Amino acid sequence: MDYFEWNDALKVGNQLIDQDHFELVTLVNELHQAVQEGKSTDVLAKILQALLNYTQEHFQREELLMEHIAYADIEAHKAMHQKLLDQVLVLQDAFERGRSEVASNTAELLRYWLTHHIMRTDKKLSHAIREAGLLEL
Ligand SMILES: [Fe+2]
Repeated sequence: MDYFEWNDALKVGNQLIDQDHFELVTLVNELHQAVQEGKSTDVLAKILQALLNYTQEHFQREELLMEHIAYADIEAHKAMHQKLLDQVLVLQDAFERGRSEVASNTAELLRYWLTHHIMRTDKKLSHAIREAGLLEL
């Protein structure tokens, strides 16, 4: 069983967003597995960076969708994204300062945060996208 299991409850019903979330879940699992297997800090650093990059890109894509439909909750939703990015950056900084054990904290934070954010906040967004008649971009 995967550390972070992808299942239908995580689908928000928008192909672009679901695809991004699936990729993020995959990267979190990759990070967790690398930690479990005792991979080198070089390997962990690369996965951490990939995860951070993909998270940033994904947030930008969601935020563009929000702008496109003039989403009422855009500011609150963007603030949540920024807060998470700040937390991940703090962990990445600690990792780079030699605290390699924070790699597993990062996986844990993302598993927890993504599960809750997807189920509440992103489902609301996906609903608004459908309401706006914007099925896919
Ligand atoms: Fe989001």
